[in-house]
Amino acid sequence: MAFWKFFFKNTGIFDMPRSIESVKSIKNILLIKNLENKGQVTDIYVSLDNNIDLYDLEKLCESVGWVRRPIKKVKTAIDNSFLIVSLFCEQNKKKRLIGFARVTSDSAFNATIWDVVIHPEFQGKGLGKALMNQTIKHLRYADISTITLFADPNVVSFYRSLGFITDPDGVKGMFWYPL
Ligand SMILES: CC(C)(COP(=O)(O)OP(=O)(O)OC[C@H]1O[C@@H](n2cnc3c(N)ncnc32)[C@H](O)[C@@H]1OP(=O)(O)O)[C@@H](O)C(=O)NCCC(=O)NCCS
Repeated sequence: MAFWKFFFKNTGIFDMPRSIESVKSIKNILLIKNLENKGQVTDIYVSLDNNIDLYDLEKLCESVGWVRRPIKKVKTAIDNSFLIVSLFCEQNKKKRLIGFARVTSDSAFNATIWDVVIHPEFQGKGLGKALMNQTIKHLRYADISTITLFADPNVVSFYRSLGFITDPDGVKGMFWYPL
């Protein structure tokens, strides 16, 4: 591993196939150095550790206007997710959660991406794209070939720019809700 660490030290993450279990040990890897944000320069880190602070996550979700969810259910959702991708910046020597996505999967064929969010203070700087690219990269390493998501109408073009297509071969997403 030392060789690969050396070889990929400038990429911020080891670009080699890894099992999904082993990626969960990837914590605080430098993803973007010196990102300029509101006159300040900050480094952005990526973590695939599913042991995240649930209150920080709910604060992040609230920052984009999502309704608060019962924390116990959020914990169950995180614990049962296939992959968690978090982005952090460093503020006052502390890591602050500024981006998040999670994935559910059958571990073989299909994966669905949920809860994609970048804090409003950090939007429009390429972090949403970086977050999605990290997510897709690790799903491809796990040999997952069908990746789906549910896009809010105002973000369809964001996902299109990442290669997602709507209604492939006329296939429609369908939902069932309790009445
Ligand atoms: C959607 C979201 C994750 C995008 O993150 P971001 O960091 O602002 O996006 P980026 O800066 O990486 O943008 C990447 C590209 O998508 C475009 N884009 C970003 N947000 C967009 C939006 N809401 N609609 C359409 N295009 C968008 C950008 O213009 C950029 O295009 P470019 O590569 O041609 O320059 C972020 O706006 C967000 O958290 N929104 C609130 C939560 C939400 O709606 N999540 C999705 C739920 S389905």
